[in-house]
Amino acid sequence: MERWHPVSVLSDLHRGEVAGVRIDGHEVVLWREDTDSATLHAWEDRCPHRGMRLSFGFVREGALGCLYHGWQFGGTARCRLIPAHPNVRVPAAIQVRTHMVREHAGLAWVGMDGAGAFPATMPVPWPVVQPVRSVHVSAGAGLLRHALGMHADVAMTWRGPVGLAVHAPVAGQAMLHVVRARDAQAPSPLVLSRWAERLRDGVEGGGDTTRIMGELA
Ligand code: FES
Repeated sequence: MERWHPVSVLSDLHRGEVAGVRIDGHEVVLWREDTDSATLHAWEDRCPHRGMRLSFGFVREGALGCLYHGWQFGGTARCRLIPAHPNVRVPAAIQVRTHMVREHAGLAWVGMDGAGAFPATMPVPWPVVQPVRSVHVSAGAGLLRHALGMHADVAMTWRGPVGLAVHAPVAGQAMLHVVRARDAQAPSPLVLSRWAERLRDGVEGGGDTTRIMGELA
């Protein structure tokens, strides 16, 4: 838990959009402001009112609104409006629990409790990176990392112009996130998307994935 987790490709998080993700069994809502800054936030996916998932909610004027009773939470995570009592000054204590979030290498990274500062040394060997897709794998993150040749403590690796990142939504499940250098020599997004599906099938089938990995060599 005490680490930064790559949880989504950035192409799945456009301005004004909301997405729910899980990190080691913890529910997290990602949402991007509909303002000029388009700031990305990562919060606990639970409304402080009655516990509704905030990932079912909506973005409006720089705030995340809860679908159930419409409470709105601004970028600081404090409640700024209770629609049933629009003239009430909302107590500052009503706020959502927040997580650290960074946009890096075409991915959204979430720092859970005690994660510390984002690693300054995480290299991106290409000047411009393009998100490709995220793929769910019905196998443990350890198995997926093994297939990718990644050490257990590593969240992302590069195979030439292709970036591969892994996170565990829950035990026994994994997400593979694929990005590419915006470079003429890199496989196209469509080719990489199909490759990710073959790797997923190989890992889930428990077979030898060496040949599939060799396609990126
Ligand atoms: S549960 Fe979210 S506003 Fe009531």
